[in-house]
Amino acid sequence: MPETVDIIIKNANELITLKGKNIPRTKKEMSEIGIVKNGSVAIKNGMIFDVGKNLKYKAETIIDAKGKTVMPGFVDPHTHLVFSGSREFELDWKLKGLSYIDIKKKGGGINYTVEKTRKASPAKLSDEARLRLDRMLSYGTTTCEAKSGYGLDTETELKMLKVQKKLDDTHPIDIVSTFLGAHAIPKEHSVSDYVKIITEEMLPKASKYAEFCDVFCEKGFFTYAQSKKILEAGKKHGLMPKIHADEIVDTSGATLAAEVGAISAEHLLMASDKGIKDMAKAGVIGVMLPGTPFCLMMKEYAAARKMIDSGVPIAIATDLNPNCYVENMQFIIQLACFNMKMTPAEAICASTFNAACAINRQESIGSIEKGKQADIIILDAPNHLCIPYHFGINHVEQVIKKGCILI
Ligand code: NIG
Ligand code: FE
Repeated sequence: MPETVDIIIKNANELITLKGKNIPRTKKEMSEIGIVKNGSVAIKNGMIFDVGKNLKYKAETIIDAKGKTVMPGFVDPHTHLVFSGSREFELDWKLKGLSYIDIKKKGGGINYTVEKTRKASPAKLSDEARLRLDRMLSYGTTTCEAKSGYGLDTETELKMLKVQKKLDDTHPIDIVSTFLGAHAIPKEHSVSDYVKIITEEMLPKASKYAEFCDVFCEKGFFTYAQSKKILEAGKKHGLMPKIHADEIVDTSGATLAAEVGAISAEHLLMASDKGIKDMAKAGVIGVMLPGTPFCLMMKEYAAARKMIDSGVPIAIATDLNPNCYVENMQFIIQLACFNMKMTPAEAICASTFNAACAINRQESIGSIEKGKQADIIILDAPNHLCIPYHFGINHVEQVIKKGCILI
């Protein structure tokens, strides 16, 4: 008698497994996405039970994926999920040619959202974020990272982190939390006073609700030295460092990421050759956020090709935030291919397995392998090339999270 499982997905035209070692993929390995033609997946108790061709199990639910692509759910490793205070009015300013820094000076930018987020109740923040999570799920994201950073005071930073925790407990998407107290300098403090507040007052409390500590290391925000101080203090409280690095100006953020042993460095539009080399040597994952230069109408994108060729493991993410309002990882794959010249296979690795590595979840998600969590999406597309090729639509037809069919 064949064994009984909960779900069997069969006949997938392309089953993309991302099978391999549980370490971030670099160079050529990023293109080896483990395609099984006519593939099947067996799911039992929320986990992947077996993967192959023509699996012979009895199953309560049989999904025929003929002509479809089956792959791991997208992992979005960089979002600012929780905020109140959207900034659609900035679009007119951007169209007039104002830069991110000009917009900040004009009263837009992070500090605008901070004021609204401080005033918002936890229920309001949660309701707004839940709608974003629902949209993420409909586009195939099954796990995301979320950063605090629109509080810039202890009370609101904790409010954000608690909202993230509650959403993680109640929404099907798994949320991994990052403390980003150092997102901007609040108008009531000098930067040196604020660094002190972060390290002495916020970190001891925030570390109970977060796994990572992030810093916006940038001209006009936090310097190399201040960022280093905050990330080192975070480490003492058990938080792994992440860093918004070299987005607008090269402030050696990539080198700092290597120096502090960061799990990842994000943005990196202006990262120097030395910074890229340092990251490759230290194994820091480069998280590309092509939605940001897209919505800021910048000509340049991060040098993803150069980083891949230099041996930096690359992940991609939405950077969902009021400046870059996007939940859709398929669109990010499209930008990665068309504007950063990543291949479809590389972009898929970057949005699944390498993205899981960037939030330290590679043991449980990011690939379709026996023993991993059954976070799987079924795309109404015959092969993975169609994800970027046929752009501007939602390819996702079904979403399975921890073995439950949600969509
Ligand atoms: O990653 N660069 C810093 N933080 C966000 C933007 C936040 C905002 O503008 O509200 C980012 O792009
Ligand atoms: Fe960001």
